[in-house]
Amino acid sequence: MKRVFSGVQPTGDVTIGNYLGAIKRFVELQDTTEAFFSIVNMHAWTIPQEPDVLKQKTLSLAALYLAVGLDPDKTTIFVQSDVPEHSELAWYLQCMTYIGELGRMTQFKEKGEGKETVSVGLYTYPALMAADILLYQTELVPVGDDQKQHLELTRDLAERFNKRFGEAFKVPEPLISEFGARIMGLDDPTKKMSKSAPSPYNRITLADTPDEIRSKIMKSVTDTENEIRYDPERKPGISNLLTIFSLFSGETVDQLVARLQGKGYGTLKKELVEVVVGHLQPIQERHRQILESGELASVLRQGGERARQEAAKTLQAVKEKMGLMV
Ligand code: AMP
Ligand code: TRP
Repeated sequence: MKRVFSGVQPTGDVTIGNYLGAIKRFVELQDTTEAFFSIVNMHAWTIPQEPDVLKQKTLSLAALYLAVGLDPDKTTIFVQSDVPEHSELAWYLQCMTYIGELGRMTQFKEKGEGKETVSVGLYTYPALMAADILLYQTELVPVGDDQKQHLELTRDLAERFNKRFGEAFKVPEPLISEFGARIMGLDDPTKKMSKSAPSPYNRITLADTPDEIRSKIMKSVTDTENEIRYDPERKPGISNLLTIFSLFSGETVDQLVARLQGKGYGTLKKELVEVVVGHLQPIQERHRQILESGELASVLRQGGERARQEAAKTLQAVKEKMGLMV
């Protein structure tokens, strides 16, 4: 079975972009791969956090992993900071990463833009992400399109290390689906939907109420025509709604376009509200139950132990190769 690793930051509220681009796909992989899914709370600290809020969001994201259908008997679910090997390997990798490589990362440029001060952590973040992945001898990394550049750096670092010191890491492949890897903002379909966009009308979160979902979809930006057609270049708004519709309902875009022909944007939006609400409500209900049940503590403890066992093996080999075991 192939090794899989992925992570989501416990910041903001998880959006349907995170869900469709990443988390829903984790569930699809759990039966056919050996997977590690982490709540990457150390990454969260690359920008300022409130400790109490971070803690609550970490538990909430862990509960969401379970609520969407990840099964701790099949996959390892753990909190990044429970496995100190991540920060140790990140340090060694940072020493092999060039300043120029990190400066080119578009996520760094975007998140740092216009800020008076930017932490060193935001800058070195891709080395921590590489450590997350390489510690588990990962072969496949399911992520959204925005992580492609970080994955390329991870591959470069693995190859650089293996070449200099001998094989210590598998060189991982990104697993980015052709469809849905980039869900766009509802208020501006030319930019990706994001947890951190200033307007709540940018995104639907997995915690939104049916009324919020309705109002966000009905107000979503489309175009001045009235033809339902999939054309991301010329009709980014309608194409984005069709993508979301298809991923939630299982109907293909072609089927949707044929079925909704001549019906107008209002109908598309109204039907989409029903589909999204219908899909999210049971998840929200399970999420609430899991948080109340107290079952998370043991899931995360066991996941952390299992992850540590694996991570320690890789780290040991790395340290031996680097002359750090004296
Ligand atoms: P983050 O919230 O940055 O930790 O992202 C978690 C995962 O969701 C990563 O794999 C991202 O690539 C993915 N993701 C984030 N935003 C989107 C989006 N708008 N469309 C598709 N995938 C996304
Ligand atoms: N950088 C990723 C994001 O912002 C989150 C992440 C951290 C991650 N470590 C990872 C994703 C390892 C995949 C694998 O979305």
